Amino acid sequence: MYIQTERLLLRPLNLQDAPAIQKHFPHWEIVQHLSAKTVKWPYPPDGAQKFLQNIALPAMARGDDWYFGITLKGDAAGEVIGVVHLRRDTAAGNRGVWLASGFQGKGYMQEAVGAVNDLAFGTLGFDKMVIKNAADNEASRRLKQKTAARHVATVPASHYIGGSPAQEIWELTAADWRAFRTAQEALARYCRPQAAPAALWTRRSATVQAFGHAAGKRGSRKLRGMPCRPCAVTALRPLRFAAG
Ligand SMILES: CC(C)(COP(=O)(O)OP(=O)(O)OC[C@H]1O[C@@H](n2cnc3c(N)ncnc32)[C@H](O)[C@@H]1OP(=O)(O)O)[C@@H](O)C(=O)NCCC(=O)NCCS
Repeated sequence: MYIQTERLLLRPLNLQDAPAIQKHFPHWEIVQHLSAKTVKWPYPPDGAQKFLQNIALPAMARGDDWYFGITLKGDAAGEVIGVVHLRRDTAAGNRGVWLASGFQGKGYMQEAVGAVNDLAFGTLGFDKMVIKNAADNEASRRLKQKTAARHVATVPASHYIGGSPAQEIWELTAADWRAFRTAQEALARYCRPQAAPAALWTRRSATVQAFGHAAGKRGSRKLRGMPCRPCAVTALRPLRFAAG
């Protein structure tokens, strides 16, 4: 299964991806946030090969796991720079992700996760995803906040390679994801807070967040941190109302 996004091509991992994974994955800034139950650290020289051969490919063949290699559309070689792992097993968490350090902070994972969520809640018929992260993993938390997940619990943990003493647990339902996508589409079409009638924005926070969203699209670093989900959810109703 291949998935295209604006900038990325996601494709199933295969054995030829071993050198790229061996190059990009075994770095402290990535593995510190992962589980010692699933990742050997220090990472062995044949770690990627063994992972593909013994874990990823057999799991995909069984049909309940999807390992997508993330590649850049513009890269003719199609080198894998990260992975999104989706699985039906909720107990272990339905999604795992990593992205090579040099490519982080550009919104790539938001883009990849959005497309994989569409697949999971669309064609694959997931009702809900449970997603987990080390409590000290700020990037992973932001990623979940930016893609409509709800924080449901923080529990003690002792399995993280970097030693995080706690784990955050998040949920994303199919209904929430559809509402989020609908809101995103509405915002992309109608979100013009500066031009909107004052009555449209009854709460200051909505105004600020909507402005943050619009500014984010223009690339303002200062306002990019504004949360999109509250912006989308708060803005959708008045926009629908206004539209008719
Ligand atoms: C988590 C990870 C996949 C995010 O990938 P990414 O492509 O850098 O994420 P994005 O660029 O799509 O950013 C998503 C949000 O997180 C924020 N973010 C990214 N890196 C961050 C960091 N180091 N600290 C704080 N926020 C961060 C981004 O700013 C963005 O929010 P914004 O739009 O409000 O600015 C990546 O950091 C990674 O691979 N980390 C190591 C492995 C890992 O932690 N995997 C997850 C295990 S649960």
